[in-house]
Amino acid sequence: MIKFIITLSLIIIKSRMEKYLTHPVFQFVSEIINSERKQAYVVGGYVRDLLLERQSKDIDIVVVGSGIELAKKVADYLGKKTKLSVYKNFGTALLKTDEWEIEFVGARKESYRKHSRKPIVEDGTLDDDLRRRDFTVNALAIALHKNKYGKLLDPFNGIKDLKNRIIRTPLEPAVTFSDDPLRMLRAIRFATQLKFRIENNTYEGIKASAGRINIVSKERISDELNKIIMSQKPSYGFILLENSGLLNYFLAQLAKLKGVEAQNGIGHKDIFYHSIEVLDNICEHSENLWLRWAALLHDIAKPMTKKFTKENGWTFYGHEYHGARMLPGIFSSLRLPLNENMKYVEKLIGLHLRPISLAEETVTDSAIRRLLFDAGDDIDDLMLLAEADITSKNELKVETYLNNFKLVRKKLLEVEQRDAIRNFKPPISGEDIMKTFNLPPCKTVGIIKYSIKDAILDGIIANNREEAYELMLKKGKELGYHLGTKNH
Ligand code: CTP
Repeated sequence: MIKFIITLSLIIIKSRMEKYLTHPVFQFVSEIINSERKQAYVVGGYVRDLLLERQSKDIDIVVVGSGIELAKKVADYLGKKTKLSVYKNFGTALLKTDEWEIEFVGARKESYRKHSRKPIVEDGTLDDDLRRRDFTVNALAIALHKNKYGKLLDPFNGIKDLKNRIIRTPLEPAVTFSDDPLRMLRAIRFATQLKFRIENNTYEGIKASAGRINIVSKERISDELNKIIMSQKPSYGFILLENSGLLNYFLAQLAKLKGVEAQNGIGHKDIFYHSIEVLDNICEHSENLWLRWAALLHDIAKPMTKKFTKENGWTFYGHEYHGARMLPGIFSSLRLPLNENMKYVEKLIGLHLRPISLAEETVTDSAIRRLLFDAGDDIDDLMLLAEADITSKNELKVETYLNNFKLVRKKLLEVEQRDAIRNFKPPISGEDIMKTFNLPPCKTVGIIKYSIKDAILDGIIANNREEAYELMLKKGKELGYHLGTKNH
């Protein structure tokens, strides 16, 4: 399909590119630029995406001269509908409406990257500007000024690379990557999103410069990681990240999962490949970034819990618990949010084995109620994760598990409809217990409270206030407390 689109696009290029500059802003810019007798070009990702027929709302315009001046004129022309922000030191201006964003920048000699904090030092020509960009497919430009309107400029054969689906740096990789080492990650991100191949010399360049990623902020690294994770088949990107050596610099815990150990001729699965396969599996069912993170990191604590015994072979006892405990550290080192999203990933990792153990046993109502109670509203995501986690090569085994999961899901629905455990709040609160027995906050309150919760989850009493109240009095009595007792 992509090949077809690219072939089609190449026909477009050979004929008249201007027909495809359908965005109304290009006309305004062109009119203004013509009256000023200047040159302006639409460049970078917008051109690449136009040729790949991908939707793009971000437009970058390079002006030979001042980008800010042109942006101000376009803003005046468009009137109130737009918001203009000017970054004088950086020689850029951003024009925003509800629907699109255009960045205007003067052509420069030094390396270009969007939102760069580097002040602009020296003005340059369009050629200077394009050669300091990251990849040949991002170094394309279409002229917007008179006579040349619609003409495509492709000094580094970016069109050929688009056609052959190749990511390649315009200059020697060492030069392009030292301008901005994040570009190594961008190469892998683009390759994953677009299903492109990284050209050999460029890939070797990544391997050689991998250590330089250390000077890039963790926020920028995680932005790229999130984009890889949100692509259709992230495993492709993670294999490149691992093989190139990059992964070790910011997510060494994941890189450490790679490899197979054998004892007495028995090997365990390669946990790295398993993890990225689980991630691919979940991507077929969910667009939720955080569920995808949970899939990627669900076995992260396996190396530290790994044991081999003759009786049991390889075991990883408690890896779900340790994995959940490792998560805040991992998120914090990547400057990922330490908010409810992190809590959600932590929770899913901690619970990821529970549906599997249910699918292995005969499912009791009590086990289902406990799972519903612990997972709450995240039960559906947890089930997706558990299903994605079945990656055995043995088809029969996979089918058996998946059928058992169907049973678990059916049971979950039945029990939830009957007992409403998902958003369970104990019908008797700690306050109630303290009031009834005239107790201050203490251990006894907790003991009574948990015994009521357990009795409900185990189906010993129904989930209502009357039965819970009865049980509270009974438990209190067993512990030597009565209504309004004062002797404690
Ligand atoms: N660019 C660059 N080096 C970087 C970042 C950006 O050379 N480190 C240039 C590229 O020409 C790129 C353009 O700036 O096409 C716009 O950058 P950006 O918006 O970050 O990327 P896009 O290519 O538009 O792709 P995406 O929106 O998917 O990030």
